[in-house]
Amino acid sequence: MKLLDGKELSLELQKEIAAEVAAHIADGGRKPHLAAVLIGNNPASKSYVGHKVKACAKAGFVSSLVERSEDITQEELLTIVKDLNEDESVDGFIIQLPLPSHIDDQAVIKAVKPSKDVDGFHPENVGRMALNLPTFLPATPGGIMTLLERNGVKTSGMHAVVIGRSDIVGNPMTSLLSRNSDPGNCTVTQCHSRTVDLKSHTLKADLLIAAVGRPHFITADMVKDGAVVVDVGINSIADASRKSGMRLTGDVDFENVAEKCSLITPVPGGVGPMTIATLLQNTLRARLASTS
Ligand code: GUN
Repeated sequence: MKLLDGKELSLELQKEIAAEVAAHIADGGRKPHLAAVLIGNNPASKSYVGHKVKACAKAGFVSSLVERSEDITQEELLTIVKDLNEDESVDGFIIQLPLPSHIDDQAVIKAVKPSKDVDGFHPENVGRMALNLPTFLPATPGGIMTLLERNGVKTSGMHAVVIGRSDIVGNPMTSLLSRNSDPGNCTVTQCHSRTVDLKSHTLKADLLIAAVGRPHFITADMVKDGAVVVDVGINSIADASRKSGMRLTGDVDFENVAEKCSLITPVPGGVGPMTIATLLQNTLRARLASTS
């Protein structure tokens, strides 16, 4: 078994991004600027946004954080989006999801200017992705594609099984893996909470993508020998041995599944850092596109 090390690769990508930023500045350009909108007090969202803002500083980006309380109205949030759309100093921005239940998140996503939608969530960009046209790929599935590519994983002809149907991971992942591209060219089965006999599907997977959101959901008996396993889960579980009393773990029972795999992502240090690196790549692309 070999690790698909997202942390190491993300550091490499951050160096490449920093070099592109330096070249852009030497050419008379300015630092890319990513803005993040964070609504409410969801601890996971706060932590993710914190990581994104930190990564910006490391790569030589400008970042800004727009924080509002849980009781924001839809109208107020749409005004923030409008201001960010119009702010020429901002190259790209994200609205951290999930949003409070009283907000219509699709209406908010639709209000983002597609050229600043570095999450790739706007319907126009989702459509462009589906048609294999140039666009911003959603950061998590985009990062997984880069992780597979840079590790030389030959996905062509593989049977990929994606567990999850979210707009953030499962749906775009299914679309990207079935593309006529490298990586891609997989035969993809998409499973979800209503799938009958999940194990009968996962056992056929040469490439298994777990985006379930349940700790240690994928056990060794569900995995084919020699499979490539990508764990998208970031679950916080109790751990009395830690000072915080908590630790992060994935959707995969890593200890037992790893023995059966050819390649596997760890949690933390797998998909998470790749998501952030991809968001930075998208923001850099947005900056460069606005000067061309
Ligand atoms: N919530 C979980 N993942 C993401 C992401 O990639 N982008 C945003 N905006 N929210 C998220």
